[in-house]
This record gives sequence, C-alpha cells and structure tokens, in this order.
Amino acid sequence: MNSETLAVSRTAAIARLKSHQQQHKWSLRELFASDPARAGRLSCEAAGIYLDYSKNHLRNETLQLLLDYAEQIELSQQISALLSGANINNTEHRPALHSALRFQGQPQTEHERAVADCRKQMQHFAEKIHSGSWRGFSGEPIRHIVNIGIGGSDLGPRMVVEGLRPWHRDDVSVHFVANIDGADLSDTLLGLPPEQTLFIVASKSFSTLETRQNALSARQWVLAAGCREDQLAQHFVAVSSNIVAAQDFGIAAENIFPMWNWVGGRYSLWSAIGLPIVLACGYDAYEQLLSGAHAMDAHFANAPLEDNLPVLMALIHFWYRQCWNVGSQVVLPYAQRLAKFPAWLQQLDMESLGKSVNREGHALQYPSGSVIWGTEGSNGQHSFHQLLHQGKDLIPADFIAVREPTSELHEQHQWLLACCISQSQALLRGKSLHEARQELEEQGYTHREAHALAPHKVVPGNRPSNTLVLQRLDPYSLGSLLALYEHKVFVGGCLLGINPFDQWGVELGKLLGAQIHAAIGGEAPPDWDASTRNLLERLF
Ligand code: F6P
Repeated sequence: MNSETLAVSRTAAIARLKSHQQQHKWSLRELFASDPARAGRLSCEAAGIYLDYSKNHLRNETLQLLLDYAEQIELSQQISALLSGANINNTEHRPALHSALRFQGQPQTEHERAVADCRKQMQHFAEKIHSGSWRGFSGEPIRHIVNIGIGGSDLGPRMVVEGLRPWHRDDVSVHFVANIDGADLSDTLLGLPPEQTLFIVASKSFSTLETRQNALSARQWVLAAGCREDQLAQHFVAVSSNIVAAQDFGIAAENIFPMWNWVGGRYSLWSAIGLPIVLACGYDAYEQLLSGAHAMDAHFANAPLEDNLPVLMALIHFWYRQCWNVGSQVVLPYAQRLAKFPAWLQQLDMESLGKSVNREGHALQYPSGSVIWGTEGSNGQHSFHQLLHQGKDLIPADFIAVREPTSELHEQHQWLLACCISQSQALLRGKSLHEARQELEEQGYTHREAHALAPHKVVPGNRPSNTLVLQRLDPYSLGSLLALYEHKVFVGGCLLGINPFDQWGVELGKLLGAQIHAAIGGEAPPDWDASTRNLLERLF
C-alpha cells in the first residue's frame, strides 16, 4: 500500500473512531453491569503475562473499528517486516532487529551467528570475573563492576539488575553511573577499592558526552590509586559499535564487546549492553531473560491481531490518544523491584513516538507520542493518585501485579495486591454525588453538612486501566514483559505512521551543549538570545 493511500486510511479511521466515540455514551460501570462475561472476554494471556483489558472504554464495535484499521494499514505485514529484518528504520536505512538478540536454539542467520559469538564472549568474561581469575592491577580479583552509560546503555540493564535482586551473586556487586553530574560517579565510587573495581564503558556510539567524561574521570581514579597505564586494560572493558573510538580511549580490542547498528540504543539491553545483568545475576538468568522475550516475540509474530497482547495495548492507547484527548499514560508496577521500570519505559516510548512527521516526512495532522510517567505501587497512591482519581484529565493506567510474593513478608504481599486491585477498581467505579451524600449522612453529618461536603468527595470514576499479571518476578517473566512493551511501542509507531526507531530531536541539544560549553568564560555570540547569554554570565 502506498503512503498516500495509508494516510487516507488513517484519517478515515480516526474520523470513524471519533464519531463512534461521540455517538455512544457509556460508562465502564454500565459496560460491566450489562455483560457479566466481560472480564473473561476482554483478557488474554501469552508468554507468562496475563492482560486484563476489560476496564477500558471498549465495546465490541470499538474493538472492531480498531482492528479494521490495523488490517487496513497491513499491520501483520509490518510486524513480519520488523521481525524479518527489513530496513524499517527508513531514516537511518537499517533494520531494527532487537528480536534477533534473543533468538533461541541454533543460530540461523548472519545476525544470529554474530549474536551467538557475542553471547560466548560475555559468558567467558563473566566466568573469569566470577571465578576471580580476572585480576586488577594489584593482583586482587575484581569484586565491583561499575557500568558507565546513559539512556539505553544504562536504563535497561539498571532496571533488570534491580528487578532480579534475588538472583544476585555474592561474589560481585554491580553499580551504575549515568549522569554527567560528578556527584553520580563520586558517590558511586565512594568506598569502592580501585584495585578490585572494573568499569564497563557502555556506549553504542562511544561519543556520548556524559559517558566519555565519566569514563575519563574513572580512568583518572584508577590511575591515581597506583594502576599503571599498561594495566588499565584490567579495569576497563567496553560495549560499543564504534570499536575504533573505544580503542582510542585505551580499551584493549579483546575487551570490546560488539554492538551493531541494527540494534537501537533503547532496545539494547538484550545485547552486550546487558553485560551487567550477566555479571550481577549469572549467565543462566540472562538466558532466561532472553527466552522470556523470545516467547513474547513468538506470540507477537503468530497470534491473531485480536488476541495479540502488544497489538491490543497499542490499539487501546491509540483510541484514547486520538479520540479521548489523552496526553499521558501512567505505569504502576506494584513491585518494589520494578521501581525503575517507568524510567526505562519513558525512554522506550517517548524517544520512539515523540515525533511530528510521518515516515515520509510530512507533518502529522493528529497527536503522536504521549507522556509516560509513574512509579512503584503502592507509593504513588500517597502522592499523585489523587490526580488520577479526581483531576480533570483522563489518564489511562497500566497496573502491573506479581502473583507470588517477592519477599518472605507474605502478608505484606497480600496487602500490596489488594492495593493494586483496589486502585483500578476505584478508577473504574468512582463515587457519585448521591453515594457521597449518603455516606456522609450515615457518618452522622447533618443533611446540610452532607450537601456542602459531598461535591468534594465525588470521584468521577469511569477511568480506564489495564492490569498485567506476572506469576512471579523472575528473569523469564521480566524478559517477556519488556518485549511486550517494546512491541506495543512498535505497533504504536505503525498506527501513527511514523518511524519509531530514530531520535533526531536529541541531536540539537547535544550540538548546542557543545557550543555553550565552548563559550564558557568567553564572549557569547551576540546573536544568541538574551536569556541564554544572561544565564552563561550568571552561572560562570
Ligand atoms: O541521547 C539519546 C541516545 O542517543 C539514546 O538513544 C541512547 O540510548 C543514548 O543516547 C546513549 O547512546 P550511546 O549508547 O551511543 O552512548
């Protein structure tokens, strides 16, 4: 289908959805009351993840309209193109083959063979660290790993390492440094013995300002502790697709783990960027993570669109974004160890879908990416949930629950799950004016007092959510969960007709950052805006 026909289908589909939304007024309470089978009908399960999407503003006709649109844009063919390695990143002329990073069984393609070699390299390296045969400059084994990276070279491995705490080995501790604020590196290094510390410089491009500066400072820290220049190789390894730049930095060729331009930064935790996961949790856990993601890939590739978890989640958000004036989505993992999940998802979703032109470079006539935010449940309940319940904006929520307890405090786990379920129930049900008045009168308020106070206690309800359930928080389920969101974002890009795999917008800030840095202590060019010149003077 050519791009003009696609654009026409998209405009027509959005118009149909809008008119459907305006014609049919319904409440979630009514939808549940009229259909006792709704929760069972609007839920599905794949690769260890159960999705209940029944608390959404969906009627049969809504879903049909959304699925018709998916057919019109040939979504299944677009999914096949992604997974088969077509050059779908059209502005950078490359495939987006993160799914090849989690292949299972014998490697079949050139990409998979390269991945298999890299996995062996990671496994051997981890064995040397874990066995203590990799020594630092003083002859002592390495006991601390510091990953220096930012964005995709930090958020994924950091989140997974934190998520899999029970798998942590006790022979090494793994730390992460991302920020160019020196406090990040200094605070992390405080108390670490340089002779037992190894740095992973993780940067696909090996040109990222923050990572290079932190790596240079780390180098000085090791040298200052008595390491000779010719011993630095014992303390630095790199993960990069820019082998020359990593070698120029002084990292030995055999200590550079490859990355490939067909893996986007925000999809890279499955590559050697996941080395901190292997070091913290062991190679077997990393393999389980890959196999969970692979199971979700297989589901994504093969399940019919109407039962396809990533497709359903993307369609539902498309519906809200285009027709319900929704500008943000909140993600609430009810699992302390998934506290970093929202930050990982922010990069994945917002760097992918925050675009204003379509694949052909034409201005979008409809909204695109929305704001992703959230925190671990139940903490959010005592900070921002007020806005979810009584604020003026409709903010769809994704609740993530883990069935098995993640600690030995089983009773607390029951409370945690109760909190999770009750929040989605409260968003759905709300509290009417009548209910609020009645409740107040039952509490002993006079009729007059109840009338005055009740409007403040009204909770509109009718607010949608998904609930995702993992049986347990283990490497397999986590891999599957992350792949689910990756594919949801890809489908989001297809529905919007944009390229979700580039991020040109980030470049301008990088360029200007270098220009401002060069202007420190000198004359700022007169054609710069007065605020920028004023701030330069004030800060330096
Ligand atoms: O600045 C955005 C970005 O390009 C991300 O896409 C990427 O994950 C991050 O920077 C880090 O890039 P690199 O791995 O090349 O250092």
